[in-house]
Amino acid sequence: MRAKLERDFDRFKRELPRDFPAHVRGSYRIDLTARYLGELVPHPIGKGSGQLSLNPGQLEDDAAAGLAFAVLKTVIAEDETGTQTMAAWAIHETKMKVERRPAGAGRAGWTVSWKGRGWDRPFAEYLALVRAGRDLTRGGRLLVVPSVKYHLPRLAEPFREGEYRYTTAQLADAWREPPLLVEKDFSPTLAGDALADDRAQILRWLEDVPRQIRAASPIPVRVALKLMNARFDDAFQVEMMNASAGADALVCFNRLFDAERSVAYGGWDLSDRNLRVLATHLTPGATPGVPALTGTGNIGSGRMILEYARRGCESVQLHTFFQLPLSEYAATHGSRAQRALHALVFHPRDGLLAGMLELEARGALERQSGELRFLDLGARAHRAG
Ligand SMILES: Cc1cc2nc3c(=O)[nH]c(=O)nc-3n(C[C@H](O)[C@H](O)[C@H](O)COP(=O)(O)O)c2cc1C
Repeated sequence: MRAKLERDFDRFKRELPRDFPAHVRGSYRIDLTARYLGELVPHPIGKGSGQLSLNPGQLEDDAAAGLAFAVLKTVIAEDETGTQTMAAWAIHETKMKVERRPAGAGRAGWTVSWKGRGWDRPFAEYLALVRAGRDLTRGGRLLVVPSVKYHLPRLAEPFREGEYRYTTAQLADAWREPPLLVEKDFSPTLAGDALADDRAQILRWLEDVPRQIRAASPIPVRVALKLMNARFDDAFQVEMMNASAGADALVCFNRLFDAERSVAYGGWDLSDRNLRVLATHLTPGATPGVPALTGTGNIGSGRMILEYARRGCESVQLHTFFQLPLSEYAATHGSRAQRALHALVFHPRDGLLAGMLELEARGALERQSGELRFLDLGARAHRAG
């Protein structure tokens, strides 16, 4: 197996097989099937919402590369008059800087420094992007999901239902066939905002937002909450997960916020925190009726995908690893998404296949009807607590 992996890693540097999950299944008897927001996808690796899903060209490239899914840039909700209560998040900023971010124990990860926030163009243009995503989804080429930042009130205030209704109805109209899938973003800049100073206020959002979106949608809808890393301790992070029981899925967790520099950041501090909280979350008794989980944060190897999967994540969303200097990828040809997939799946030491085979050798993952299955990793985590 090891020799085969090395051979594949080498020959796929120029080009991944068109249907690499089928190749993996045929050659290694490994079933990479994963799940995002209730939809089965051929493997667990998708693109997180952000600057890499702003136009149909990027989506086309992702479909060609073989990504499992892509979440569109977060749009700021509006009502039928165009009013956006969260307008402070619809600001324009183009410059991104990919840089090293040191963490404890001498580890230097990567982060993208960027001062922007949500979608800053007209909503009509976002809806055109949703329609392009719908066509790719219907064609079975790439599952595409919109992301929204809806109004979040202070404790004493009501939700602006008009913004929920109008925005969701427009998305449903663009998507047409049920169910509508939506991710609701709780961003790091929100975590850093005075709005998120109050724990009770945050917990109310998490309890009420899925209900608000369901009530607003003219067609059946599945809701993922992309939880922020709040500026409180790990125990509160778990409380946030428990408060989100009304969602269909949770994306765990968006980037950390550096208040001094006033930027969001990732790297090892982010994955340390996320994995620590996810591990706590799985302790027996702490998880009544949990929604499905998707991991995000500092994923730059198959091994890191396994860390999230073994804590219950059914898929993962990446951003930074699709933005590295070309010299960081072993592949010599293809888009960054393609080169990233090559490393994440086939790296002979740190790739997903190498990691799953190693778990099998250690007796931590068993074949079912002759196959190792990615989705068994999380099921095992839940059983084991
Ligand atoms: C430049 C940039 C912009 C982002 N914009 C959004 C966004 O609009 N909405 C959102 O939910 N997440 C956004 N994210 C978060 C990513 O989707 C991802 O969850 C996060 O960066 C952690 O993954 P990573 O360590 O692979 O980058 C953004 C991240 C970056 C780096």
